[in-house]
Amino acid sequence: MIFGATGDLAMRKLLPALYHLATRGALSPAMTIVGVGRRPMSDEAYRDKVQADIAAFAGGDVEPGTWAWLAPRVRFAHATLADSESYASLARRLDEVEGTQAGQVGRLFYLATPPSAMPDIVRHLGEHGLVRETGGAWRRVIVEKPFGYDSESAHALTLLLRAHLAERQIYRIDHYLGKETVQNLMAFRFANGIFEPIWNRRYVDHVQITVAETVGVEGRGGYYDGAGALRDMVQNHLFQLLALTAMEPPISFEADAVRDERVKVLHAVHLCDADEVRRRVVRGQYVEGALDGGAPAIPYRQEADVPVASTTETFVAMKLFVENWRWADVPFYLRSGKRLARRMSEIAVQFKCPPFRLFEDTAVASFEPNVLVIRIQPDEGIALRFQAKVPGAEVTLGGVEMDFAYADHFAAAPATGYESLLYDAMCGDPTLFHRADMVEAGWQVVEPILALLRSDPGALLHAYPAFSCGPEAADTLLTREGRAWRPLARG
Ligand code: BG6
Repeated sequence: MIFGATGDLAMRKLLPALYHLATRGALSPAMTIVGVGRRPMSDEAYRDKVQADIAAFAGGDVEPGTWAWLAPRVRFAHATLADSESYASLARRLDEVEGTQAGQVGRLFYLATPPSAMPDIVRHLGEHGLVRETGGAWRRVIVEKPFGYDSESAHALTLLLRAHLAERQIYRIDHYLGKETVQNLMAFRFANGIFEPIWNRRYVDHVQITVAETVGVEGRGGYYDGAGALRDMVQNHLFQLLALTAMEPPISFEADAVRDERVKVLHAVHLCDADEVRRRVVRGQYVEGALDGGAPAIPYRQEADVPVASTTETFVAMKLFVENWRWADVPFYLRSGKRLARRMSEIAVQFKCPPFRLFEDTAVASFEPNVLVIRIQPDEGIALRFQAKVPGAEVTLGGVEMDFAYADHFAAAPATGYESLLYDAMCGDPTLFHRADMVEAGWQVVEPILALLRSDPGALLHAYPAFSCGPEAADTLLTREGRAWRPLARG
Protein backbone atom coordinates (compact mmCIF):
# COMPACT_ATOMS: atom_id res chain seq x y z
CA MET A 1 0.00 0.00 0.00
CA ILE A 2 1.59 3.25 -1.14
CA PHE A 3 0.49 6.44 0.62
CA GLY A 4 1.18 9.39 -1.66
CA ALA A 5 0.47 7.17 -4.68
CA THR A 6 0.07 10.05 -7.11
CA GLY A 7 3.04 12.03 -5.77
CA ASP A 8 6.48 12.63 -7.18
CA LEU A 9 8.31 9.86 -5.36
CA ALA A 10 5.79 7.19 -6.33
CA MET A 11 5.74 8.39 -9.91
CA ARG A 12 9.49 8.76 -10.48
CA LYS A 13 10.92 6.02 -8.30
CA LEU A 14 8.59 3.55 -6.62
CA LEU A 15 6.32 2.49 -9.47
CA PRO A 16 9.19 2.26 -11.98
CA ALA A 17 11.11 0.24 -9.37
CA LEU A 18 8.17 -2.16 -8.91
CA TYR A 19 7.94 -2.45 -12.67
CA HIS A 20 11.67 -3.31 -12.89
CA LEU A 21 11.19 -5.96 -10.21
CA ALA A 22 8.25 -7.36 -12.17
CA THR A 23 10.41 -7.45 -15.33
CA ARG A 24 12.93 -9.59 -13.44
CA GLY A 25 10.20 -11.89 -12.15
CA ALA A 26 11.04 -10.85 -8.59
CA LEU A 27 7.50 -10.14 -7.42
CA SER A 28 5.11 -12.66 -5.98
CA PRO A 29 2.18 -13.46 -8.28
CA ALA A 30 -0.03 -12.97 -5.21
CA MET A 31 1.03 -9.34 -4.80
CA THR A 32 -1.36 -6.41 -5.08
CA ILE A 33 -0.30 -2.75 -5.16
CA VAL A 34 -2.85 -0.45 -3.58
CA GLY A 35 -2.15 3.22 -4.27
CA VAL A 36 -3.65 5.61 -1.72
CA GLY A 37 -4.32 9.21 -2.74
CA ARG A 38 -6.30 12.23 -1.64
CA ARG A 39 -8.35 12.61 -4.82
CA PRO A 40 -10.90 9.92 -5.71
CA MET A 41 -9.86 7.90 -8.73
CA SER A 42 -11.00 4.60 -10.23
CA ASP A 43 -8.68 1.60 -10.40
CA GLU A 44 -8.68 1.97 -14.20
CA ALA A 45 -7.71 5.66 -14.09
CA TYR A 46 -4.92 4.92 -11.62
CA ARG A 47 -3.66 2.06 -13.80
CA ASP A 48 -3.46 4.44 -16.74
CA LYS A 49 -1.48 6.89 -14.65
CA VAL A 50 0.87 4.15 -13.43
CA GLN A 51 1.43 3.00 -16.99
CA ALA A 52 2.24 6.57 -18.05
CA ASP A 53 4.60 7.03 -15.07
CA ILE A 54 6.42 3.82 -15.90
CA ALA A 55 6.72 4.86 -19.55
CA ALA A 56 8.14 8.22 -18.50
CA PHE A 57 10.47 7.17 -15.69
CA ALA A 58 11.40 3.48 -15.94
CA GLY A 59 13.81 4.11 -18.81
CA GLY A 60 12.86 2.38 -22.05
CA ASP A 61 9.56 1.20 -23.47
CA VAL A 62 6.98 -0.48 -21.25
CA GLU A 63 7.31 -4.18 -21.97
CA PRO A 64 3.75 -5.36 -22.88
CA GLY A 65 4.09 -8.77 -21.18
CA THR A 66 5.26 -7.26 -17.90
CA TRP A 67 2.56 -4.61 -17.98
CA ALA A 68 -0.10 -7.24 -18.69
CA TRP A 69 1.14 -9.06 -15.57
CA LEU A 70 1.31 -5.95 -13.40
CA ALA A 71 -1.80 -4.01 -14.47
CA PRO A 72 -4.45 -6.26 -12.86
CA ARG A 73 -2.49 -6.14 -9.61
CA VAL A 74 -2.76 -2.35 -9.36
CA ARG A 75 -5.65 -0.81 -7.36
CA PHE A 76 -6.50 2.58 -6.00
CA ALA A 77 -8.00 3.68 -2.69
CA HIS A 78 -9.04 7.18 -1.79
CA ALA A 79 -8.31 8.49 1.72
CA THR A 80 -8.05 11.70 3.68
CA LEU A 81 -4.89 11.07 5.60
CA ALA A 82 -5.88 12.95 8.75
CA ASP A 83 -9.34 11.40 8.89
CA SER A 84 -9.77 8.34 11.05
CA GLU A 85 -12.79 7.12 9.03
CA SER A 86 -10.62 6.83 5.93
CA TYR A 87 -8.53 4.15 7.62
CA ALA A 88 -11.57 2.09 8.43
CA SER A 89 -12.33 2.09 4.74
CA LEU A 90 -8.68 1.30 3.88
CA ALA A 91 -8.90 -1.65 6.27
CA ARG A 92 -12.04 -2.87 4.48
CA ARG A 93 -10.29 -2.41 1.14
CA LEU A 94 -7.32 -4.48 2.27
CA ASP A 95 -9.59 -7.20 3.67
CA GLU A 96 -11.41 -7.29 0.37
CA VAL A 97 -8.12 -7.59 -1.60
CA GLU A 98 -6.75 -10.19 0.79
CA GLY A 99 -10.03 -12.09 0.95
CA THR A 100 -9.30 -13.67 -2.39
CA GLN A 101 -5.88 -14.93 -1.30
CA ALA A 102 -4.96 -18.14 0.42
CA GLY A 103 -2.83 -18.18 3.58
CA GLN A 104 -1.32 -15.32 5.53
CA VAL A 105 -0.89 -12.10 3.61
CA GLY A 106 1.93 -9.68 4.47
CA ARG A 107 1.35 -5.96 4.25
CA LEU A 108 3.94 -3.37 3.36
CA PHE A 109 2.95 0.27 3.81
CA TYR A 110 5.09 2.85 2.02
CA LEU A 111 4.79 6.37 3.40
CA ALA A 112 5.69 8.35 0.27
CA THR A 113 4.08 11.42 1.78
CA PRO A 114 5.40 14.76 3.13
CA PRO A 115 6.86 14.43 6.63
CA SER A 116 3.98 16.42 8.09
CA ALA A 117 1.53 13.65 7.11
CA MET A 118 3.48 10.89 8.82
CA PRO A 119 2.26 11.22 12.42
CA ASP A 120 -1.39 10.97 11.35
CA ILE A 121 -0.80 7.99 9.10
CA VAL A 122 1.23 6.05 11.65
CA ARG A 123 -1.25 6.75 14.42
CA HIS A 124 -4.27 5.76 12.35
CA LEU A 125 -2.59 2.65 10.97
CA GLY A 126 -1.96 1.65 14.56
CA GLU A 127 -5.36 2.56 15.93
CA HIS A 128 -7.22 0.75 13.16
CA GLY A 129 -5.15 -2.40 13.63
CA LEU A 130 -3.76 -2.24 10.11
CA VAL A 131 -0.24 -2.94 11.32
CA ARG A 132 -1.14 -5.57 13.93
CA GLU A 133 0.73 -8.80 13.24
CA THR A 134 -1.74 -11.56 13.95
CA GLY A 135 -1.37 -15.23 13.18
CA GLY A 136 2.13 -14.81 11.74
CA ALA A 137 1.23 -12.32 9.01
CA TRP A 138 3.87 -9.59 8.78
CA ARG A 139 3.16 -5.85 8.73
CA ARG A 140 5.94 -3.43 7.76
CA VAL A 141 6.10 0.30 7.25
CA ILE A 142 8.65 2.06 5.03
CA VAL A 143 9.38 5.57 6.23
CA GLU A 144 11.11 8.20 4.10
CA LYS A 145 13.56 10.76 5.38
CA PRO A 146 13.78 13.33 6.91
CA PHE A 147 13.93 11.30 10.12
CA GLY A 148 13.45 14.36 12.27
CA TYR A 149 14.94 17.81 12.11
CA ASP A 150 17.41 17.63 14.99
CA SER A 151 18.17 15.28 17.88
CA GLU A 152 15.04 16.17 19.78
CA SER A 153 12.57 15.82 16.91
CA ALA A 154 14.29 12.62 15.77
CA HIS A 155 13.75 11.17 19.22
CA ALA A 156 10.11 12.28 19.19
CA LEU A 157 9.71 10.54 15.83
CA THR A 158 11.22 7.36 17.24
CA LEU A 159 8.74 7.46 20.11
CA LEU A 160 5.83 8.05 17.75
CA LEU A 161 6.81 5.13 15.51
CA ARG A 162 7.48 2.88 18.48
CA ALA A 163 4.09 3.67 20.00
CA HIS A 164 2.44 1.83 17.11
CA LEU A 165 5.13 -0.39 15.63
CA ALA A 166 7.89 -2.67 16.82
CA GLU A 167 11.36 -1.62 15.61
CA ARG A 168 11.51 -4.72 13.38
CA GLN A 169 8.42 -3.44 11.52
CA ILE A 170 9.99 -0.06 10.73
CA TYR A 171 12.01 0.30 7.54
CA ARG A 172 13.65 3.76 7.41
CA ILE A 173 14.73 4.02 3.83
CA ASP A 174 17.90 5.69 2.53
CA HIS A 175 18.14 5.31 -1.20
CA TYR A 176 21.93 5.64 -1.06
CA LEU A 177 22.05 2.23 0.60
CA GLY A 178 20.18 0.84 -2.39
CA LYS A 179 22.89 1.90 -4.81
CA GLU A 180 24.85 -1.06 -6.12
CA THR A 181 28.25 0.54 -5.56
CA VAL A 182 27.40 1.39 -1.98
CA GLN A 183 26.44 -2.20 -1.33
CA ASN A 184 29.59 -3.28 -3.12
CA LEU A 185 31.65 -1.44 -0.55
CA MET A 186 30.95 -4.26 1.90
CA ALA A 187 31.76 -6.89 -0.70
CA PHE A 188 34.95 -5.05 -1.61
CA ARG A 189 36.10 -4.75 1.98
CA PHE A 190 34.98 -8.07 3.38
CA ALA A 191 35.15 -10.49 0.45
CA ASN A 192 38.76 -9.63 -0.36
CA GLY A 193 41.71 -10.42 1.85
CA ILE A 194 44.12 -7.75 0.65
CA PHE A 195 42.46 -4.46 1.61
CA GLU A 196 41.39 -4.98 5.20
CA PRO A 197 44.95 -5.26 6.60
CA ILE A 198 45.78 -1.75 5.33
CA TRP A 199 42.36 -0.23 6.09
CA ASN A 200 43.45 1.61 9.22
CA ARG A 201 45.37 4.51 10.76
CA ARG A 202 48.72 2.91 10.11
CA TYR A 203 48.35 3.10 6.34
CA VAL A 204 45.53 5.54 5.63
CA ASP A 205 46.37 9.25 5.60
CA HIS A 206 42.80 10.44 5.23
CA VAL A 207 39.46 9.66 3.62
CA GLN A 208 37.37 11.97 1.42
CA ILE A 209 33.67 11.38 0.89
CA THR A 210 32.08 13.53 -1.81
CA VAL A 211 28.49 13.70 -3.00
CA ALA A 212 28.38 16.51 -5.55
CA GLU A 213 25.37 17.40 -7.64
CA THR A 214 24.91 19.81 -10.55
CA VAL A 215 21.17 20.15 -9.95
CA GLY A 216 19.75 22.92 -7.78
CA VAL A 217 16.74 22.58 -5.52
CA GLU A 218 14.48 21.58 -8.42
CA GLY A 219 11.25 23.15 -7.28
CA ARG A 220 11.68 21.84 -3.71
CA GLY A 221 12.73 25.23 -2.30
CA GLY A 222 10.05 25.12 0.40
CA TYR A 223 11.30 21.82 1.84
CA TYR A 224 14.97 22.44 1.14
CA ASP A 225 15.19 25.82 2.80
CA GLY A 226 14.05 24.28 6.06
CA ALA A 227 16.60 21.49 5.72
CA GLY A 228 19.79 22.52 3.93
CA ALA A 229 22.60 20.23 2.82
CA LEU A 230 23.45 19.21 6.36
CA ARG A 231 20.04 17.68 7.03
CA ASP A 232 19.20 16.73 3.45
CA MET A 233 22.40 14.86 2.62
CA VAL A 234 25.03 14.72 5.35
CA GLN A 235 23.14 13.43 8.37
CA ASN A 236 21.81 10.49 6.37
CA HIS A 237 23.47 9.63 3.04
CA LEU A 238 27.01 10.79 3.78
CA PHE A 239 27.01 9.38 7.29
CA GLN A 240 25.95 6.00 5.92
CA LEU A 241 28.83 6.12 3.44
CA LEU A 242 31.13 7.02 6.32
CA ALA A 243 29.78 4.15 8.40
CA LEU A 244 30.25 1.59 5.62
CA THR A 245 33.79 2.84 4.98
CA ALA A 246 34.90 2.87 8.59
CA MET A 247 32.95 -0.02 10.15
CA GLU A 248 34.53 -3.13 11.60
CA PRO A 249 33.84 -6.44 9.87
CA PRO A 250 30.49 -7.68 11.20
CA ILE A 251 30.36 -11.12 12.79
CA SER A 252 27.79 -12.18 10.17
CA PHE A 253 25.63 -10.70 7.45
CA GLU A 254 22.61 -10.90 9.70
CA ALA A 255 20.87 -7.49 9.59
CA ASP A 256 21.54 -6.41 13.15
CA ALA A 257 25.12 -7.64 13.10
CA VAL A 258 25.80 -5.30 10.17
CA ARG A 259 23.77 -2.44 11.59
CA ASP A 260 25.47 -2.76 14.98
CA GLU A 261 28.83 -2.14 13.32
CA ARG A 262 27.53 0.81 11.30
CA VAL A 263 26.06 2.49 14.35
CA LYS A 264 29.28 2.00 16.32
CA VAL A 265 31.08 4.20 13.79
CA LEU A 266 28.59 7.01 14.30
CA HIS A 267 28.88 6.64 18.06
CA ALA A 268 32.67 6.89 17.71
CA VAL A 269 32.62 10.18 15.78
CA HIS A 270 34.12 12.94 17.90
CA LEU A 271 31.49 15.47 18.92
CA CYS A 272 32.89 18.92 18.23
CA ASP A 273 32.77 21.82 20.65
CA ALA A 274 31.83 25.25 19.30
CA ASP A 275 35.45 26.17 18.45
CA GLU A 276 35.98 22.92 16.61
CA VAL A 277 32.78 23.47 14.65
CA ARG A 278 34.11 26.87 13.54
CA ARG A 279 37.42 25.36 12.47
CA ARG A 280 36.16 22.15 10.89
CA VAL A 281 32.89 23.00 9.17
CA VAL A 282 32.27 25.14 6.09
CA ARG A 283 28.83 25.95 4.76
CA GLY A 284 28.20 27.38 1.31
CA GLN A 285 25.32 28.80 -0.67
CA TYR A 286 25.33 29.13 -4.45
CA VAL A 287 25.03 32.45 -6.19
CA GLU A 288 24.71 32.96 -9.94
CA GLY A 289 26.99 30.94 -12.17
CA ALA A 290 26.95 29.08 -15.49
CA LEU A 291 28.00 25.64 -16.69
CA ASP A 292 30.19 25.41 -19.80
CA GLY A 293 29.07 28.75 -21.24
CA GLY A 294 25.40 27.81 -20.80
CA ALA A 295 22.71 30.08 -19.41
CA PRO A 296 23.51 31.11 -15.83
CA ALA A 297 21.64 29.36 -13.04
CA ILE A 298 19.81 31.67 -10.69
CA PRO A 299 21.18 32.20 -7.19
CA TYR A 300 19.75 30.00 -4.46
CA ARG A 301 18.06 33.01 -2.86
CA GLN A 302 16.03 33.55 -6.02
CA GLU A 303 14.74 29.97 -6.22
CA ALA A 304 10.98 29.58 -5.77
CA ASP A 305 9.86 29.39 -2.12
CA VAL A 306 13.28 30.42 -0.80
CA PRO A 307 13.42 33.60 1.34
CA VAL A 308 15.57 36.35 -0.22
CA ALA A 309 17.78 36.52 2.86
CA SER A 310 17.99 32.76 3.39
CA THR A 311 21.04 31.50 5.28
CA THR A 312 20.38 27.85 4.42
CA GLU A 313 23.43 26.04 3.11
CA THR A 314 23.44 24.31 -0.27
CA PHE A 315 26.97 23.03 0.38
CA VAL A 316 28.74 21.61 3.41
CA ALA A 317 32.29 20.47 3.95
CA MET A 318 33.53 19.12 7.25
CA LYS A 319 36.34 17.29 8.91
CA LEU A 320 35.44 14.47 11.28
CA PHE A 321 37.37 12.03 13.41
CA VAL A 322 36.28 8.51 14.21
CA GLU A 323 37.73 7.92 17.62
CA ASN A 324 38.56 4.26 17.85
CA TRP A 325 41.63 2.07 17.60
CA ARG A 326 41.35 1.68 13.84
CA TRP A 327 40.88 5.34 12.92
CA ALA A 328 42.27 7.57 15.68
CA ASP A 329 43.76 10.77 14.15
CA VAL A 330 42.74 9.92 10.58
CA PRO A 331 40.68 12.81 9.20
CA PHE A 332 37.50 12.00 7.32
CA TYR A 333 36.63 14.93 5.06
CA LEU A 334 33.01 15.01 3.90
CA ARG A 335 31.54 17.40 1.34
CA SER A 336 28.23 17.63 -0.43
CA GLY A 337 26.56 20.34 -2.40
CA LYS A 338 24.17 21.36 -5.11
CA ARG A 339 25.03 23.30 -8.25
CA LEU A 340 28.60 22.08 -8.24
CA ALA A 341 30.86 21.66 -11.26
CA ARG A 342 30.13 18.00 -11.75
CA ARG A 343 27.83 15.24 -10.58
CA MET A 344 30.16 12.97 -8.71
CA SER A 345 29.78 10.74 -5.69
CA GLU A 346 32.81 8.87 -4.46
CA ILE A 347 34.78 7.66 -1.50
CA ALA A 348 38.52 8.21 -1.79
CA VAL A 349 40.89 6.52 0.62
CA GLN A 350 44.27 8.20 0.44
CA PHE A 351 47.18 6.17 1.78
CA LYS A 352 50.31 7.44 3.46
CA CYS A 353 53.44 7.89 1.37
CA PRO A 354 56.19 5.29 1.74
CA PRO A 355 58.19 5.89 4.90
CA PHE A 356 61.56 6.04 3.21
CA ARG A 357 62.51 8.23 0.22
CA LEU A 358 64.55 5.71 -1.73
CA PHE A 359 64.43 7.83 -4.85
CA GLU A 360 65.93 10.90 -3.28
CA ASP A 361 69.08 11.01 -5.50
CA THR A 362 67.04 10.85 -8.67
CA ALA A 363 64.86 13.28 -10.59
CA VAL A 364 61.91 12.19 -8.44
CA ALA A 365 61.02 15.23 -6.38
CA SER A 366 58.03 13.84 -4.53
CA PHE A 367 55.62 10.95 -4.52
CA GLU A 368 51.98 11.08 -5.29
CA PRO A 369 50.22 9.08 -2.61
CA ASN A 370 48.25 5.96 -3.47
CA VAL A 371 44.54 6.58 -3.63
CA LEU A 372 41.76 4.05 -3.77
CA VAL A 373 38.61 5.58 -5.22
CA ILE A 374 35.21 3.96 -4.99
CA ARG A 375 33.05 5.72 -7.56
CA ILE A 376 29.40 5.61 -6.56
CA GLN A 377 28.02 7.58 -9.46
CA PRO A 378 28.27 8.16 -12.33
CA ASP A 379 30.71 5.67 -14.01
CA GLU A 380 30.39 3.27 -11.08
CA GLY A 381 33.68 1.53 -10.38
CA ILE A 382 36.81 1.28 -8.29
CA ALA A 383 40.22 2.69 -9.16
CA LEU A 384 43.61 2.39 -7.48
CA ARG A 385 46.14 5.07 -8.22
CA PHE A 386 49.79 4.21 -7.84
CA GLN A 387 53.23 5.28 -9.04
CA ALA A 388 54.98 3.76 -12.03
CA LYS A 389 58.31 4.47 -13.65
CA VAL A 390 58.04 6.54 -16.76
CA PRO A 391 59.95 4.66 -19.51
CA GLY A 392 63.35 6.18 -20.27
CA ALA A 393 66.92 6.38 -19.01
CA GLU A 394 66.13 8.79 -16.19
CA VAL A 395 64.21 7.70 -13.12
CA THR A 396 60.97 9.61 -13.17
CA LEU A 397 57.67 8.49 -11.80
CA GLY A 398 54.15 9.02 -13.02
CA GLY A 399 50.77 8.34 -11.41
CA VAL A 400 48.77 5.59 -13.16
CA GLU A 401 45.48 3.90 -12.44
CA MET A 402 44.13 0.38 -12.25
CA ASP A 403 40.51 0.95 -13.02
CA PHE A 404 37.53 -1.37 -12.69
CA ALA A 405 34.36 -0.06 -14.30
CA TYR A 406 31.12 -1.84 -13.48
CA ALA A 407 29.88 -1.34 -17.01
CA ASP A 408 32.80 -3.39 -18.42
CA HIS A 409 31.99 -6.45 -16.36
CA PHE A 410 28.32 -6.51 -15.51
CA ALA A 411 25.27 -5.79 -17.63
CA ALA A 412 23.41 -2.94 -15.98
CA ALA A 413 19.70 -3.51 -15.52
CA PRO A 414 17.67 -0.28 -15.52
CA ALA A 415 17.13 0.76 -11.92
CA THR A 416 15.91 3.69 -9.85
CA GLY A 417 17.89 2.61 -6.77
CA TYR A 418 14.70 1.59 -4.98
CA GLU A 419 14.47 -1.92 -6.42
CA SER A 420 16.72 -3.71 -3.97
CA LEU A 421 15.31 -1.77 -1.02
CA LEU A 422 11.69 -2.55 -1.90
CA TYR A 423 12.63 -6.14 -2.49
CA ASP A 424 14.46 -6.37 0.85
CA ALA A 425 11.51 -4.79 2.67
CA MET A 426 9.15 -7.34 1.12
CA CYS A 427 11.50 -10.16 2.12
CA GLY A 428 11.93 -8.73 5.64
CA ASP A 429 15.63 -7.93 5.38
CA PRO A 430 16.33 -4.61 7.13
CA THR A 431 20.15 -4.68 6.68
CA LEU A 432 20.16 -1.70 4.35
CA PHE A 433 17.71 0.40 6.34
CA HIS A 434 18.37 2.88 9.13
CA ARG A 435 17.70 1.82 12.67
CA ALA A 436 16.46 4.29 15.29
CA ASP A 437 19.77 4.35 17.17
CA MET A 438 21.61 5.07 13.90
CA VAL A 439 19.38 8.01 13.11
CA GLU A 440 19.80 9.44 16.57
CA ALA A 441 23.58 8.89 16.54
CA GLY A 442 23.76 10.80 13.23
CA TRP A 443 21.89 13.72 14.74
CA GLN A 444 24.23 13.74 17.74
CA VAL A 445 27.13 14.36 15.36
CA VAL A 446 25.50 17.34 13.63
CA GLU A 447 23.92 18.73 16.79
CA PRO A 448 26.90 20.97 17.72
CA ILE A 449 26.63 22.56 14.25
CA LEU A 450 22.88 23.02 14.61
CA ALA A 451 23.44 24.54 18.06
CA LEU A 452 25.79 27.14 16.58
CA LEU A 453 23.32 27.91 13.80
CA ARG A 454 20.50 28.36 16.26
CA SER A 455 22.38 31.23 17.87
CA ASP A 456 24.05 32.50 14.68
CA PRO A 457 22.09 31.41 11.57
CA GLY A 458 24.60 32.89 9.12
CA ALA A 459 27.61 31.23 10.76
CA LEU A 460 30.19 29.51 8.55
CA LEU A 461 28.29 30.48 5.39
CA HIS A 462 30.22 31.39 2.23
CA ALA A 463 28.92 32.18 -1.25
CA TYR A 464 30.07 30.10 -4.22
CA PRO A 465 29.24 30.52 -7.90
CA ALA A 466 26.85 27.91 -9.28
CA PHE A 467 28.77 25.12 -11.10
CA SER A 468 32.01 25.86 -9.28
CA CYS A 469 33.80 23.54 -6.84
CA GLY A 470 32.21 25.16 -3.80
CA PRO A 471 33.51 27.95 -1.58
CA GLU A 472 37.24 28.59 -1.25
CA ALA A 473 36.96 28.12 2.48
CA ALA A 474 36.26 24.44 1.82
CA ASP A 475 39.56 24.16 -0.04
CA THR A 476 41.37 25.85 2.82
CA LEU A 477 40.01 23.21 5.19
CA LEU A 478 42.41 20.78 3.47
CA THR A 479 45.17 22.95 2.02
CA ARG A 480 46.14 24.31 5.43
CA GLU A 481 46.90 20.71 6.37
CA GLY A 482 48.89 20.04 3.20
CA ARG A 483 46.05 18.10 1.58
CA ALA A 484 43.67 18.85 -1.27
CA TRP A 485 40.19 17.79 -2.33
CA ARG A 486 40.07 15.52 -5.32
CA PRO A 487 39.23 17.67 -8.35
CA LEU A 488 35.61 18.27 -9.11
CA ALA A 489 36.00 20.47 -12.14
CA ARG A 490 35.85 18.87 -15.54
CA GLY A 491 38.79 18.26 -17.80
C1 BG6 B 1 17.84 13.10 -1.80
C2 BG6 B 1 17.92 14.56 -1.48
O1 BG6 B 1 17.79 12.35 -0.63
O2 BG6 B 1 19.00 12.72 -2.55
C3 BG6 B 1 18.06 15.39 -2.74
O3 BG6 B 1 16.75 14.95 -0.78
C4 BG6 B 1 19.23 14.90 -3.56
O4 BG6 B 1 18.21 16.77 -2.43
C5 BG6 B 1 19.13 13.40 -3.78
O5 BG6 B 1 19.22 15.58 -4.81
C6 BG6 B 1 20.40 12.89 -4.46
O6 BG6 B 1 20.20 11.56 -4.82
P1 BG6 B 1 20.97 10.93 -6.06
O7 BG6 B 1 20.56 9.51 -6.05
O8 BG6 B 1 20.52 11.68 -7.27
O9 BG6 B 1 22.42 11.15 -5.79
